[in-house]
Amino acid sequence: MAKQLHAQWSSRLTFILAVTGSAVGLGNIWKFPYMVGDSGGAAFVLVYLACIALVGLPILVSEWLIGRRGQKNPINTMTELARQNGRSSAWGVVGLSGVLAGFLILSFYSVIGGWSLSYTVNSIGGTFTGQDADTIGELFNGLLASPGVLLAWHSLFMVLVIGIVARGVTKGLEGAVRTMMPALGLLLLVLVGYGMTTGHFGETLGFMFNPDLGAVDGGVVLAAMGQAFFTLSLGMGIMMAYGSYLGEKVDLLRTARTVVILDTVIALVAGLAIFPIVFANGLDPSAGPGLIFVTLPLAFGSLSGGALLGLIFFLLLTFAALTSAISLLEPTVEFIEERTPLSRVGATLVGGIATWALGIAALLSFNVWGDFLILGLGIFDFLDTLTSKFMLPLTGLAAILFVGWRLDRHSVSNELGLGRTGAIVWHLLTRFVAPIGVIIVFVTSL
Ligand code: PFF
Ligand code: NA
Repeated sequence: MAKQLHAQWSSRLTFILAVTGSAVGLGNIWKFPYMVGDSGGAAFVLVYLACIALVGLPILVSEWLIGRRGQKNPINTMTELARQNGRSSAWGVVGLSGVLAGFLILSFYSVIGGWSLSYTVNSIGGTFTGQDADTIGELFNGLLASPGVLLAWHSLFMVLVIGIVARGVTKGLEGAVRTMMPALGLLLLVLVGYGMTTGHFGETLGFMFNPDLGAVDGGVVLAAMGQAFFTLSLGMGIMMAYGSYLGEKVDLLRTARTVVILDTVIALVAGLAIFPIVFANGLDPSAGPGLIFVTLPLAFGSLSGGALLGLIFFLLLTFAALTSAISLLEPTVEFIEERTPLSRVGATLVGGIATWALGIAALLSFNVWGDFLILGLGIFDFLDTLTSKFMLPLTGLAAILFVGWRLDRHSVSNELGLGRTGAIVWHLLTRFVAPIGVIIVFVTSL
């Protein structure tokens, strides 16, 4: 049986910290910049910002709202709310797809978390100090080419995630989020400052903010929309689960705005930090998932005190990755716990080990299984594409359709504290703009 009543967040701040811990992670600092580089710069950024505002924000609010009303885990919440509204329990499938998406994402997320751990340790050893772009690039390629090394770091990262989730101490991390997030933000700003000294900052601004609208095609839009879901931790039921701990008084819209702005600013600042280094060293912006690992060490290598800064940066990045990773594992663990006789520790081990095993397939696709393709994609890319571009938007679409079309319109606008105009805008967004946007993106990109 699901818990019917559970404790609530002690305050709005605690809630924001937990949500930010999940939202801010590798998606902002690792994934956003390389996708910008991959998808041609400013056109992607522009579409991404539109997706965040018109689709991401309303879905975030919708997921919290569903969670707060249901007071249960996502699967039961969707089923129950649907039943109250006279609908079938098919909505439970949506919750299930969310759990599965979290599991699939964590498998490859952990591989990148491992890269971050590896760079933390290598910074201690001064591996990157004074190296040129070629050497840094070779070091990264060397890492990719070594299944054993990748496996060791991926395993260590998963051990940390499993350890934290098994002990159920996730809440204890909020205090740490409060100090580490600002520190990470500060270090990114230091890197932006370094970028300004390279003479390529103007070029970076143009690359990121002066869009060539001709470059916008279905692929760019699908990528941008997927990234909006990924970065805000949407479409996985995680935000619903968090919402179920939310008190009546918390202002959902205001809180969502805070979180969305924070997440977006961190991603943009990461881009502003990375592209000057790309251009100054004649690197390829579309280098892919390795982008931050071949650029940032160059900056740290040439800043005074850079070895220490690099160490701190990758440590903070690893921490941000961990707080996101635990929120990815949590739904799988709760799912197993509720459906089997396993204890929390047992459920965490089973879920964690399964994730770890799938992660091995993901990391092998960077080397020995490089030629093994699913629908033309390597395993890593396939997992990423399947989840970000398809599973998350579809689950998110279901959530917003549910709020827009199934819940009582007036009770929702009361709950959100909307005035007349606000209620109309919200109604249009949740009924038409966001869902139709998601559907159009699918149709045009297929
Ligand atoms: N939002 C996280 C990031 O940007 O790194 C990744 C993530 C965490 C996605 C949790 C989904 C999720 F449920
Ligand atoms: Na994010």
